Amino acid sequence: MAKKLGGIGLACDVTQEAAVRAAFAKVAAHFGGVDIVVSNAGAAWGGRIGEVSDESLRKSFDLNFFSHQYVAQAAVAIMLKQQTGGCLLFNASKQAVNPGPDFGTYGLPKAATLFLSRQYALDYGAQGIRSGAVNADRIRSGLLTDDMVAKRSKARGVSEKDYMSGNLLGREVKASDVAQAFVQLAVAQKTTGGVATVDGGNIAAALR
Ligand SMILES: NC(=O)c1ccc[n+]([C@@H]2O[C@H](COP(=O)([O-])OP(=O)(O)OC[C@H]3O[C@@H](n4cnc5c(N)ncnc54)[C@H](O)[C@@H]3O)[C@@H](O)[C@H]2O)c1
Repeated sequence: MAKKLGGIGLACDVTQEAAVRAAFAKVAAHFGGVDIVVSNAGAAWGGRIGEVSDESLRKSFDLNFFSHQYVAQAAVAIMLKQQTGGCLLFNASKQAVNPGPDFGTYGLPKAATLFLSRQYALDYGAQGIRSGAVNADRIRSGLLTDDMVAKRSKARGVSEKDYMSGNLLGREVKASDVAQAFVQLAVAQKTTGGVATVDGGNIAAALR
């Protein structure tokens, strides 16, 4: 797919700092630099917070927080050399603002990543590097599989359609809507430190 689009595809475990730096070096060599980064990798671990294992909490922080820091750090190092600014974008989550029960293992590092986005906006704005995050909720994907949607809607006694469109607009939010929000943030030249909410409307997760 990447080749079809004129790009390159690289396998990289983003929890490994050295691997992230090596991937960025390859990307910069291929494209002649780095201008826009979408830090997207993530996975959801659950459990009641007082009972979760240290191991699972650390595993979640490794992926849902530290990998975003490694990606941003590697990108910024290249952007600073280029002296042409840049744009860092992070896939946060509704969990970062409105925690779900027994989902702290996932939500805590996501909240830290939301603040990471703001910290980059603050620390690198003077160099023309913008930073932003997308807060999405309830998107069918490898993280929220069809099987999970079926189980969750059944547990709530609603249809899958009603579960997936249980928001203010009453419409299911798709991965393509999330992608669109990243594109909009990437081209919004005067926007930094912001969050684009893509959840069809959820007042409990609205940012103050
Ligand atoms: N699905 C939702 O409802 C939802 C809501 C809010 C935020 N998000 C966020 O969206 C992002 C994408 O998730 P998704 O929902 O598309 O699920 P997904 O499982 O389809 O995608 C997650 C991706 O992360 C990659 N990944 C996981 N660990 C990795 C690692 N160590 N190194 C490199 N890549 C790794 C996986 O290979 C996969 O491609 C995640 O950050 C997730 O937290 C999802």
